[in-house]
Amino acid sequence: MSDTERVKTAALDMSAEALFVEPVPRLIGHLAVPGDKSISHRDVLLGAICDGETKVAGFGRSADTEATIGAVRTLGIEVYEHGHETLRVFGKGLRGLTQPTGPIDCANAGTLVRLVAGILAGQEGKEFELVGDASLSARPMERITTPLTQMGGACETDDGHLPLGIFGRRLRPLSYRLPVASAQVKSAILLAGLYAEGGETTVVEPAPTRDHTERMLELAGARVARRSESVTVWPAERLSLEEVEVPGDFSSAAPFLVAATLVPGSELHIHGVNLNPRRTGLLDILERMGARITVYSRRLIGGEPGGDLEVESAPLVGTSVGAAEVPLAIDELPLVALAAAAARGRTVVSGAGELRAKETDRIEATVDALRALGVRARAREDGFEVTGVPGRLRGGRIESRGDHRIAMLGAVAGLASREGVRIAGADAVAVSFPGFFEMLAELRRTSAFEQPDRR
Ligand code: S3P
Repeated sequence: MSDTERVKTAALDMSAEALFVEPVPRLIGHLAVPGDKSISHRDVLLGAICDGETKVAGFGRSADTEATIGAVRTLGIEVYEHGHETLRVFGKGLRGLTQPTGPIDCANAGTLVRLVAGILAGQEGKEFELVGDASLSARPMERITTPLTQMGGACETDDGHLPLGIFGRRLRPLSYRLPVASAQVKSAILLAGLYAEGGETTVVEPAPTRDHTERMLELAGARVARRSESVTVWPAERLSLEEVEVPGDFSSAAPFLVAATLVPGSELHIHGVNLNPRRTGLLDILERMGARITVYSRRLIGGEPGGDLEVESAPLVGTSVGAAEVPLAIDELPLVALAAAAARGRTVVSGAGELRAKETDRIEATVDALRALGVRARAREDGFEVTGVPGRLRGGRIESRGDHRIAMLGAVAGLASREGVRIAGADAVAVSFPGFFEMLAELRRTSAFEQPDRR
């Protein structure tokens, strides 16, 4: 069974064996998390349409990013894998992808399907079919087919869902205001904009979202204008990345940041993390709640702001999170809910209706998980409310529903709970962070005999 098939099974099989995460006395140590998933997808996809070789160091290997390697191979691109974290992608230029004989399997990966669709729309005269697992097939695709069609692309869906047929056409420029703040949709349009002859393509965002695509396009030699509320790209002749380094994934550091904040007596250092301000909303939210997190050794990692993080445990208070902050912490909002459960008072997250369009309905999944652990939580149409009581997280059994972020929420809750947490479908973590439980187990072992090294 391939990795992709395994994840597919995990996503569907709610009765998969449950994993128990016991409470931990404290968390002390140093960690480095795997390469950023968003950036890893983009390096491979952009590498495929560059001229010549792109060497990717620090690649974040996961079921999602493996699907991206598989997708570009299906499109005729050679990818050599050197060990676990180094790839060489042999790009064939902007128009060099080949028409595959069968469908392109995007597995569980929303970023893959949205971004590759933008590239494929501009492959004149070629036809493609994108498919995915049950979770991806339930997610909305008209958010990309609408702008791509306005650019002259030809897309066909099953009532707005996968399978998505794309017939490569000559594209035209577009100026488009996103109806929802989504980096995936923005990126699909920008990538299609590389093929839109005769002018510039502009995407206006309702709120700033992660800007990895535009940063990487600039690195690859494309003409890009970045502003706080919009981004413009011009058609490109050739792209070249040559060598890229992927920083550690802030979203994979996030469970450890929350765990060390909640478990008294903890002190963790996480090294080499991407700290792009459009990804680190969780830091601002936790800081408002009273967390003690310090950023040090700030530096550029792979063309992105990065650095090291130190986190010590701290008592938290409730807060509110609104629409402008949501895209900056979109994948961390389940963890915000958990932090809120351990904080004094009420936390309200609003303007986060997008959570319902993720791998699961993350509003329902988060609220159900917290309630199963004895927490007072309530879903709202566009977010949730949690009433926290410090030191009272009971524990219990949760369902991941095949969603990696919910499985990780369960694990962090287990560490900080009184009775531990049993996670059904814990293997979903492989979607973004296959070594998550091994890293946690190692940290638990070393924390038992480490002392905090207050700097
Ligand atoms: C991603 C963007 C976000 C995020 C996803 C990765 C990306 O989705 O939730 O995990 O790599 O561009 P949206 O842009 O659709 O909100």
